[in-house]
Amino acid sequence: MKVTVVGAGAVGASCAEYIAIKDFASEVVILDIKEGFAEGKAMDLMQTASLNGFDTKIVGSTNDYSKTAGSDVCVITSGIPRKPGMTREELIGINAGIVKTVSSNLLKHSPNTIIIVVSNPMDTMAYLVHKTTGLPKNRVIGMGGALDSARFKYRLAEALGAPISDVDGMVIGGHSDKGMVPLIEKATRNSVVVSEFISKDRMQEVVEATKVGGATLTGLLGTSAWYAPGAAVSELVKAIALDSKKMFPCSALLEGEYGLNDLSIGVPCVLGANGIEKIVEISLTDAEKAKLAESAEGVKKTNGLLEL
Ligand code: 2OP
Repeated sequence: MKVTVVGAGAVGASCAEYIAIKDFASEVVILDIKEGFAEGKAMDLMQTASLNGFDTKIVGSTNDYSKTAGSDVCVITSGIPRKPGMTREELIGINAGIVKTVSSNLLKHSPNTIIIVVSNPMDTMAYLVHKTTGLPKNRVIGMGGALDSARFKYRLAEALGAPISDVDGMVIGGHSDKGMVPLIEKATRNSVVVSEFISKDRMQEVVEATKVGGATLTGLLGTSAWYAPGAAVSELVKAIALDSKKMFPCSALLEGEYGLNDLSIGVPCVLGANGIEKIVEISLTDAEKAKLAESAEGVKKTNGLLEL
């Protein structure tokens, strides 16, 4: 499998690193507009190969899309990251133009590729890629839910005093501070719902900490986080590469699923060689349904800012 990662910043480099280290791809191309930057990151990463034990070839490119030709999966991380105090939605003006150009350039050289969108505001950027490329819904995947769910599991494990491997949980809805819907009633420790172990108030604290997971890190780091976003992307790419049919919450184009239409938003999806192979409609409580509908309204409001 050949993978392209557009953007050699912290998130893009982290995506490339985790993909390479998991050793399922034959080649990873990192592309950036900054002269020599992607080549430098690629060379540095290649020099970890013998130490980390992977055979994936990593190639850097300064805006030369011909190097990305024939990619099976392309990951778009380009654009500006948020600064402390900013919402993801505030990035739309600059990032929409970049994401549109990048996706069109990628498709010229890899017409059959699956695109994973990471740039923010992610749900709106995934929708933009659908609208401007005309790609079918299985081939545009927004990465947000896998990351938000990882942050949810981190907070759940902390609250439960349990190892991460003991907990499971999922976050659906928009990838935004207000829009995330951590499914706390369905979260489990070894298949036992977490309400058996922690109070309603503690559960609510987990939900709130999860929703501001990215903002908390932006406050600490001065820019957007990269390790967990990179790891989340690598898991999605791996599910496609191995045709594993694993289920992740991903931002997918909805056409009636969950009673929603004409937007991309986080819902459980089965990933395999064809990208999103199935959108899974799980039963939601009335409260969860209401939160998802509210989240969808927020995403649609941001989509309304796009010049399509
Ligand atoms: C985050 O939440 C990159 O949006 C991403 O960290």
